[in-house]
Amino acid sequence: MQNTSTADTQPLRRFIARMDAIVADTSQPEAATLEQVGQALGDLVAQDNWLDPQFAVPHPEYYRQYLLHADPEDRYSVVSFVWGPGQKTPIHDHCTWGAIGMLRGAEVGQAYAQRAAGMVETGEAERLDPGDVAFVSPAIGDIHVVRNAYDDQVSISIHVYGTDIGKQSRHVFDAATGAMKTFISGYANVEKASA
Ligand code: FE2
Repeated sequence: MQNTSTADTQPLRRFIARMDAIVADTSQPEAATLEQVGQALGDLVAQDNWLDPQFAVPHPEYYRQYLLHADPEDRYSVVSFVWGPGQKTPIHDHCTWGAIGMLRGAEVGQAYAQRAAGMVETGEAERLDPGDVAFVSPAIGDIHVVRNAYDDQVSISIHVYGTDIGKQSRHVFDAATGAMKTFISGYANVEKASA
């Protein structure tokens, strides 16, 4: 990757080295992995001086996911999630663990559960401000809606997932009926593999 920006590449490289060490320990339970990932991600998003500007570009209509690093063995991936003003996800899941670290701006997440009568909100909406870290996984709650907290500015969070999330088969949910649809998100900066 060409570094044409003034961004400091060290923090991301340090983070990737820490992630490599964390996922190398395959014996530890997910909760321990998430705790360690959360600490490393918290350190990464504590400073906003390292994200290459090409991975911070919003799209006028859709939120963007840029791949920053994919582990060669698909044990984890690191993504910059760029929200244009007012942008919002559908209700979706991940089918793997994920950690979300807020880098710039703010976002609001709302957890959901799938019931016979449709999707229902569970718990309070959670706002993430710069430096904050949150988690998802099938074990602790994997279904949510996330939106930019701002209608007038870009927000960016850094996501880490327990697989190559751009290739992961997962789901969106119809709010009224709970009906599931499978999707694969891909990345804004990576050509999708042809099926
Ligand atoms: Fe999500």
